[in-house]
Amino acid sequence: MICAGNWKLNKSPKETESFLKKLLIAADQLDQSKFIVFPPALSLAKASEILNGSKINYGCQNISTVNSGAFTGETSVDHVKELNCDFVLIGHSERRSLFAETDDEVATKVRLTLDQGLKPMICIGETLKQREAGETKNILKSQLLASLEKVSSTESITVAYEPVWAIGTGKVAGPEQVNDVHNFLRDILIKKFDESFAAKTPLLYGGSVKPTNAAELAKVENVDGFLIGGASLQVESFIQIYRNSN
Ligand code: PGA
Repeated sequence: MICAGNWKLNKSPKETESFLKKLLIAADQLDQSKFIVFPPALSLAKASEILNGSKINYGCQNISTVNSGAFTGETSVDHVKELNCDFVLIGHSERRSLFAETDDEVATKVRLTLDQGLKPMICIGETLKQREAGETKNILKSQLLASLEKVSSTESITVAYEPVWAIGTGKVAGPEQVNDVHNFLRDILIKKFDESFAAKTPLLYGGSVKPTNAAELAKVENVDGFLIGGASLQVESFIQIYRNSN
């Protein structure tokens, strides 16, 4: 199981250094290639320095829709590439809801990421209102297909299904809900591309994943790993999720 940690706006460069040094020791005997961390942009250079030579992956939480120019305060994927990042997290629900990120911008960021040879991790998810209105699958389908607008079948992406109502709330989606959605997402990938694209695309679940619920969720067919917020901020709980799900 892949364990990806989304740190959001937590961990300075110094805190990143001490966390990652601890993680390297804790993951020494584990499959390091299954770990991904997403530090805040200003801590990426430190992550690059500490993780150099290890198999632990790291990436940026967001990039700009443009690579360079007069765009004060933006983050260029070219610079992210220079720091040897592996992944870019794209379309997280906090970006969509707090920063008004649109499906079109998500599609552009996915393209820019692939153009740099980096791997996009595309986040999709329904709100509680949408779930209660029975719109979950329509919403997920339109978010996923929009984000794949500029992707070809020879390229590689990762998809993270994160129900918005389960993020940071302690309310985790039940195994049956996750099973239903992940089967649905796999089918969309088969229809849009083909079986081999769908089979090689990791489908992660995110939303209040903890050491206590990881084992149950990991048993769900078509769950290839987790995108973890709060519980990824301590090495102990992050590692425990990996152990409980592998
Ligand atoms: P959470 O966050 O694990 O704290 O719910 C998940 C996420 O936002 O990616």
